[in-house]
Amino acid sequence: MAKDIEALLKEKRIFEPPAELVENSNIKKWMNEHDIKDYDELLERAKDIEWFWEEVSKEVIEWYTPYKKILDWTPPYAKWFVGAKCNIAHNALDRHVKTWRKNKVAYIWEGEPGEVRKLTYNDLYIGVNKFANALKSIGIGKGDRVMIYLPMIPELPMAMLACAKVGAIHSVVFSGFSAIALRDRINDAEAKAIITCDSFYRRGKTVPLKKQTDEALEGAPTVEVAITFKRTGEDVPWSEGRDHWWHDVIEDQPPTCETEVMDSEDLLFILYTSGTTGKPKGIQHVHGGYALGVAHTLKWVFDIKEEDVYWCAADIGWVTGHSYIVYGPLILGATSVMYEGSPDYPDIGRLWSMVERYGVNVFYTSPTAVRMFMRFGEKYPAKYDLSSIRLLGSVGEPINPEAWMWYWKYIGREHCPIMDTWWQTETGAHVISPLPITTLKPGSVTRPLPGYTADIYGTDGKPVAAGAGGRLVLTTPWPAMMRGLYKDPKRYVETYWSEYPDTYLAGDIARKDENGYFWIQGRFDDVLNVSGHRIGSAEVESALVSHPKVAEAAVIGKPHEIKGESITAFVVLSAGIEPDDELRAEIREHVAKEMGKIARPGEVWFVGDVPKTRSGKIMRRVIKAKVTGEPVGDISTLANPEAVEGLGKAK
Ligand code: PRX
Repeated sequence: MAKDIEALLKEKRIFEPPAELVENSNIKKWMNEHDIKDYDELLERAKDIEWFWEEVSKEVIEWYTPYKKILDWTPPYAKWFVGAKCNIAHNALDRHVKTWRKNKVAYIWEGEPGEVRKLTYNDLYIGVNKFANALKSIGIGKGDRVMIYLPMIPELPMAMLACAKVGAIHSVVFSGFSAIALRDRINDAEAKAIITCDSFYRRGKTVPLKKQTDEALEGAPTVEVAITFKRTGEDVPWSEGRDHWWHDVIEDQPPTCETEVMDSEDLLFILYTSGTTGKPKGIQHVHGGYALGVAHTLKWVFDIKEEDVYWCAADIGWVTGHSYIVYGPLILGATSVMYEGSPDYPDIGRLWSMVERYGVNVFYTSPTAVRMFMRFGEKYPAKYDLSSIRLLGSVGEPINPEAWMWYWKYIGREHCPIMDTWWQTETGAHVISPLPITTLKPGSVTRPLPGYTADIYGTDGKPVAAGAGGRLVLTTPWPAMMRGLYKDPKRYVETYWSEYPDTYLAGDIARKDENGYFWIQGRFDDVLNVSGHRIGSAEVESALVSHPKVAEAAVIGKPHEIKGESITAFVVLSAGIEPDDELRAEIREHVAKEMGKIARPGEVWFVGDVPKTRSGKIMRRVIKAKVTGEPVGDISTLANPEAVEGLGKAK
């Protein structure tokens, strides 16, 4: 990490976007229509956030009933487009099938074994309607929580949209998460139903999702119904009465379904994300403002045109997929690529082969993926024709300049600008990002988008000077912002709004350079960023101590060449237990089972004690400094300073 920050500080290269791209960009067109001469003037005008968001909403959102007020801001709670009636499913589907887009392809889907399904807007519309009718027939309606535990198959967006259509609140759980992680989320959401599949393909093997679902449901009493989509045809455990096949429940359903009229502020989904304590946070998003935020940013940042083929190669189980595979592209009526499997199957050229075959114009991935491609070398992308690509995107963690340059050179062929988009599950949509008209600096997310006010504050609550590091904050509300945490208003206020008055604290550290460009340096709280995904240190620690031989555990993120951070665990064994490699392997597997493979520690070290404050809080920062060789700093508040030395003797 220290090396990266140093590199960022030295980064002086700049890249101008191609003139033709700028000229034809959606944002340029919009500025021309609004008589705005350049980006600085736009940023200035957009300081009137109500003017800006209303103006851009006219292009992308249709309301059933107009709003009475654009914004009601009673910090820390915002309501946008107050009084409007709408439904995101209307914007994403219903209205398109009344136009020529009816038979436009919405998704080009490829399964890992190679089969292809192309779904038009009408196919999706009918699929969603039938499934929405099925949900209604089993008693799911407005406000009910429905868990969705599905891999990257078209039924995942279908299930989400069907929930939206009937007014139910969906909560998607990443298919890489374990039964236990799923169970915790179901119980927090008190879900009435769950939607899953038999199994799916990943790296040539199958993942038994229904079996994992059943394990989760053993301790999830609120779930009355489980619907299973048949993806592979493998045998599954079955519970008569509770379980239904997807194909059975839709069989006799009509192809139309009335879309529930929702308030713009009604909940659309809950998505769980990691925080600093063990319990994941249920981030809430709504039908109105969220729809605007995702569609507008996709239109401007990725410059989506009617004829484009767009590919966000994330997983829908994370917010990137919610916003930029499902809702954003569908609201814009775009054609997207969707892929079920692993990017290195059957070899590391899989994605590039798909770019060539589908003529992808805009491609969005994560730094961790770029670093993986880098490791295998440019010979893989070189085998394919990537000339259709016009724009590239990055998200999830800071992209180090070396990876940026590789992406620029070997995927973008030195002419595709890279949109390094900073945002969060909480922000719903892009916040700080370049646009196709922006001068780029590798490793910088450039400047806040119009309609947002981001800054970097010091501990005194004042903006820091250019070049100095501080905490990233947002000082005005925005339409796609989270609407609190599910059932936990106290934690919402404490986590995001208590550091500075009426100011959103993002949890990242950043600096601004002399041109006002933002450079994100990572998280300042105890949230790990593994392969672009947030994992709470405390959640991994609680998985570790649930192993019968582990008494105590501390987890930190260690800089990792490909993953960004890899999980390193320091474990104190129960009395009388001797450490050995077998136990080490067992503990790693235990975490994978408890939380999913993504959380499996890369390293497990046995220690006599972990450094703690007198109040018993694990001092992860001290451990991290010790591991990365940074100065450990003041340890006078520690209850057991000798534990710091002990880390060096870890086995
Ligand atoms: O630390 C930042 C990092 O990812 C965090 C948000 O994680 P999550 O809610 O899981 O959403 C990920 C996808 C939006 C942020 O607090 N992050 C996200 N994008 C970037 C980033 N760090 C640096 N540069 C980015 N472009």
